[in-house]
Amino acid sequence: MEYNFTKEELAEVQKHVAKYPDPQSAVMPTLWIAQEKFGWLSNEAIKLVATTLDLPYAHVYGVASFYTMYFKKEVPKHLIEVCTCFSCGETGGREMLDFVKNHLEVDENGHSKDGKIWVRAAECLGACDTAPVCQVTNKRYCHNLTEDKMKGIIEKLRNDEELPYERIPLTDQSVFAKEG
Ligand code: FES
Repeated sequence: MEYNFTKEELAEVQKHVAKYPDPQSAVMPTLWIAQEKFGWLSNEAIKLVATTLDLPYAHVYGVASFYTMYFKKEVPKHLIEVCTCFSCGETGGREMLDFVKNHLEVDENGHSKDGKIWVRAAECLGACDTAPVCQVTNKRYCHNLTEDKMKGIIEKLRNDEELPYERIPLTDQSVFAKEG
């Protein structure tokens, strides 16, 4: 596999670099671009990020290895992270994690039999009011989980279908606008 960024991806990296006084601050979004492109962060992908930002490999590797949302080994395309913390733990999060693992017949790495989905427990996802909750592949949140709802989520992921947003994103500031 060739490890390089396209012109468009480099332009995206530059947009992030331009936001900060030090290019080092663009490490996280650039790692993200690399992970979205290659599926996970191999040494080659990390080297590409280091070269692109003109930073030491050790620094970029340090960031990639610190955060769990960066995948340091090859993984299935979809990830279900079930919160088992505080409120979720009290409202069925641990049982939900067991349900997903059994339903997908995961191996010791949490990877499903068909190789498309992996599962792991998550710490608090910051959506305790709608527990139990899961996050899918570092993006979509799914709230108020039930076994039936989870089966539907899994079915969509198996078919590589988009999951719907369940909430108005907080970045939509219009919801806070005062009337009149
Ligand atoms: S305890 Fe699960 S989202 Fe906070």
